[in-house]
Amino acid sequence: MSSNIVWHEASITKEERRSQNKHQSFILWFTGLSASGKSSVANAFARRLFERGNQSFVLDGDNVRHGLNKDLGFDEVSRKENIRRIGEVSKLFVESGQIVLTAFISPYREDRQVVRELVQDGEFLEVFVKCSVETCEQRDPKGLYKKARNAEIPNFTGISAPYEEPEQPEITLDTENYTIEQCVEQLTDILTAKGYIK
Ligand code: ADX
Repeated sequence: MSSNIVWHEASITKEERRSQNKHQSFILWFTGLSASGKSSVANAFARRLFERGNQSFVLDGDNVRHGLNKDLGFDEVSRKENIRRIGEVSKLFVESGQIVLTAFISPYREDRQVVRELVQDGEFLEVFVKCSVETCEQRDPKGLYKKARNAEIPNFTGISAPYEEPEQPEITLDTENYTIEQCVEQLTDILTAKGYIK
């Protein structure tokens, strides 16, 4: 990092933005296998937040890898860098007073911990989107599990690359046994009770 750069204080604070928005700003970090339902639940919940007047935005793995992170692959180092960048972008969203919903496999505990430590206590909520690899493989909406089984995709999470489950996630959503709508209800109840959303 250059030593010739100096941090410039913003004219509007995070607290001022939050009080104008009348809700908290934080990261809702969805983690889980491919096809577990991260993007579906995140987008459905973002709709719910929007309808209730909460400022939110979804960052999704497949989309971000088309732009900001299109130079990254799926080896361990690339995934680490993927999550590091998303963590930094998410922190900016928190500063901007918004609720940011991130939908990335983020298979490594250590990488998720790095993001948690980037923001203040209570600003990072880990949401484990729980679904067995067998069910994800049956769903296979993009045909990627099939390709992974045929060794057409290397390092595929759950097949030929690891997924480290969260040990103490703030929230667990069981998409194997509950519908997306039910998961949205669960999130709404938990975050309303916490006083995080309006
Ligand atoms: S992460 O592991 O770095 O967090 P990310 O969420 O950005 O992954 O991207 C995952 C998406 O990329 C999957 O939903 C899938 O569509 C696609 N993909 C392509 N190759 C792989 C792979 N080897 N492992 C997992 N997902 C892959």
